[in-house]
Amino acid sequence: MTKPEDPTRVLIFDTTLRDGEQSPGISLNTQEKLEIAQQLARLGVDIIEAGFPITSPGDFEAVQTISRTVEGPVIAGLARTHVADIDAAWNAVKDATRPRIHTFISTSDIHIQYQLQTTRDDVKGQARAAVAHAKEYVDDVEFSPMDATRADIEFTAEVCQIAIDEGATTINIPDTVGYTMPHEYTACLERLYELVPDLRDIVLSVHCHDDLGLAVANSFAGLLAGARQVECAINGIGERAGNASLEEIVMLLHTRSADVGLRSGVVTREIARTSRMVSRLTGYPVQPNKAVVGRNAFAHESGIHQDGVLKERTTYEIMDATTVGLEANSIVLGKHSGRHALQQALADLGFELTGQGLNTAFRRFKEIADKKKHVTAMDLEALVTDELREEIAAYQLEWFDVEASTRRPPHATVGIRTPDGDEVTGSFTGDGPVDAIFRAINAATGSDARLREFRVDAVTGGQDALGETSVVLEVGGVSGSGQGVSTDILEAAARAYVRALSNALRRRGIGDGSGAPDGGAFMAEAEEATAEAASRQPVRTP
Ligand code: KIV
Ligand code: ZN
Repeated sequence: MTKPEDPTRVLIFDTTLRDGEQSPGISLNTQEKLEIAQQLARLGVDIIEAGFPITSPGDFEAVQTISRTVEGPVIAGLARTHVADIDAAWNAVKDATRPRIHTFISTSDIHIQYQLQTTRDDVKGQARAAVAHAKEYVDDVEFSPMDATRADIEFTAEVCQIAIDEGATTINIPDTVGYTMPHEYTACLERLYELVPDLRDIVLSVHCHDDLGLAVANSFAGLLAGARQVECAINGIGERAGNASLEEIVMLLHTRSADVGLRSGVVTREIARTSRMVSRLTGYPVQPNKAVVGRNAFAHESGIHQDGVLKERTTYEIMDATTVGLEANSIVLGKHSGRHALQQALADLGFELTGQGLNTAFRRFKEIADKKKHVTAMDLEALVTDELREEIAAYQLEWFDVEASTRRPPHATVGIRTPDGDEVTGSFTGDGPVDAIFRAINAATGSDARLREFRVDAVTGGQDALGETSVVLEVGGVSGSGQGVSTDILEAAARAYVRALSNALRRRGIGDGSGAPDGGAFMAEAEEATAEAASRQPVRTP
């Protein structure tokens, strides 16, 4: 991607599906990643980092599917400097209309000495070879000197110069461990501009982690210092404390545009929906007081504030909730609404459903509308995302019975459809009805899954609100998360547990109905070729 001619334009590089997906407990499958990528395209991000293709056949398949399907943004695949990584990244992104390879190697001595166990000269050689190899495939190549903010700046500058000489079109300066402070990061980028004047001809990018809560502040400092690409993730998810939050950066530029003079191409009204989708699919809740997208971000508790806002909104609000799409709950359907009305309402939300997909959504909608007077846009979003998961679950909940009483221990029996299409049943007496259902599912599927987290939320307010549950469990050291939506909290819990179990088993390589990706054979070779190198450079990055 060439540098935009407009000097005020900031490119938004979304890494929700790569760095964001590296958060513990998140295990998105291809279908879920595709759904998020499509929403990111609607949101108007410039670049989607869709994954790290060498890491697993699942990651490869997801990046490839997104590359083949999602139109608009550049699609990037991450690669270490190894040939096999770059080949895998290219094979995964090559069908995108605008593909990018993003390659990285550490420049800090602490990483070079202890992790890579190599020398600065070797790092220079690897960076040179990696960018040169990536350029054989594609013009759009990004290079990141990992842990740059703790590295010797002169050495980092040398490596960046090498990458530019080999044709890198974007240089990204990561604060990998979230250590830097805004004034230091500014100084770091200003010094790099001095040492590498060629940086002015390409895109300089920032990538900040939130270990000290400074990811957004540091990214903003980087933009003020001249960077024009910011790497960020929806809801700020990512390794450890996460990445800079996309919605905070974008709304900072939007709200203070008169003073800052920078702009992104993001469609801000899509922010709230994207945040809800990512939260729902990853199982990572958004804290209530989270800036921009938290449910209290526009709520006024104090009487003085309420009084002020009623008289004039701007007395206590610096942003309008409509700008981030938070008011968008205007769609209301009822039990008499027909298939066409549902299809139109879903289309307004960006879900184009026809045929079997529409039939299933309509069936679920009718079930809900029978129990709930008004079905809102947020209910529909929850339902469609819920249905999406149904298709990919290896196991499916068919039915359950549960007896709950204060006089006897609760007892549950469940019927589960296996990936082979058989129905198996299991029963268990537990500490509570939810516990009994979860253990009955274990009994039916013959698994020894252990519950790690269980959460219940309401999709909207009101007594008849849809319940949304989230489960994280562990089977044989592998974790999986799942969510469920229903007017019945026990049913939502059972669905979430079955999905979490399916995800965990899929990650262990059992019950994966997805088959090998097109690049499967290639991947096997690539994995073998990098086995030795991988032991020197870990696949999961900080
Ligand atoms: O934090 C980091 O350094 C990264 C790089 C791969 C860009 O995620
Ligand atoms: Zn990172």
